[in-house]
Amino acid sequence: MSYETLLVETRGRVGVITLNRPQALNALNSTVMRELDAAFKVLDADKDIGAIVLTGSERAFAAGADIKEMQALDFVDSYLGDFLGGWERVAGARKPLIAAVSGFALGGGCELAMMCDIIIASETAKFGQPEITLGVIPGMGGSQRLTRAVGKAKAMDLVLTGRMMDAAEAERSGLVSRVVAPEKLMEEALAAAEKIAAFSLPAVMMAKEAVNRSLEVTLAEGLRFERRLFQSLFATEDQKEGMAAFVGKRKAEFKHK
Ligand code: HXC
Repeated sequence: MSYETLLVETRGRVGVITLNRPQALNALNSTVMRELDAAFKVLDADKDIGAIVLTGSERAFAAGADIKEMQALDFVDSYLGDFLGGWERVAGARKPLIAAVSGFALGGGCELAMMCDIIIASETAKFGQPEITLGVIPGMGGSQRLTRAVGKAKAMDLVLTGRMMDAAEAERSGLVSRVVAPEKLMEEALAAAEKIAAFSLPAVMMAKEAVNRSLEVTLAEGLRFERRLFQSLFATEDQKEGMAAFVGKRKAEFKHK
């Protein structure tokens, strides 16, 4: 499959998607959304892929939704065409997604990074929700996912002032899992993805589901959900293998990966 706005490759059990609209700092237009949806679907369905890394360029992960494409929209077009609705499908990938962020991750770019499960940032990364400066508000999850990630105080600050925060502040705030030197970004993201991809895929996917569930349901519901998933994993050969390997003091060789 060939893409106009993405580079897609596989490295062993890891899928790597690179946003590739350098002339627009990887601004997210409808082609990017459609292609990302398609690429995630292909990688999600590929049994030889265990994790996916999403990245941009050194200068920009993505500088937001494409303002030039958006500016002429009116409400009725936007509503009837379900403008931005397709991002829900992108966020619905079931395998772990790691965002490797360098440079600008603004507006929809920050929101796209937050649709991923782990954000690894270069020291050069800058995160922000500058929609307010354009007379609008975040529309791909910024007011919701950012608030859950960093709390109300920081989210309000970013969403209402439109200011950017650097990688160190993003890590302190809990938005970012790790900050690394720019030249180490892909190495670190790929190593994390390879590590995940070597584990039992059913366990990995259930772990992702369980953590995400915590953001949506009460503690009691979440605990019940987690326990049921935990119990169900005892039906897998990989649980037998993982525990036998520990007891036998050897490395586990998971079958479902
Ligand atoms: C379309 C964009 C763009 C964007 C940058 N470009 N961001 N085009 N949509 N979001 C284009 C510029 O127009 C320019 O093209 C080229 O990329 C390089 O950008 P410059 O501005 O010349 O670079 P620089 O001076 O380094 O400034 C970088 C920047 C700035 C600070 C990131 O580009 C910027 O502020 N961009 C917009 C950021 C933003 O507001 N994002 C939120 C979008 S709204 P030309 O052809 O002119 O050289 C959003 C909503 C999400 O994301 C969901 C709800 C809809």
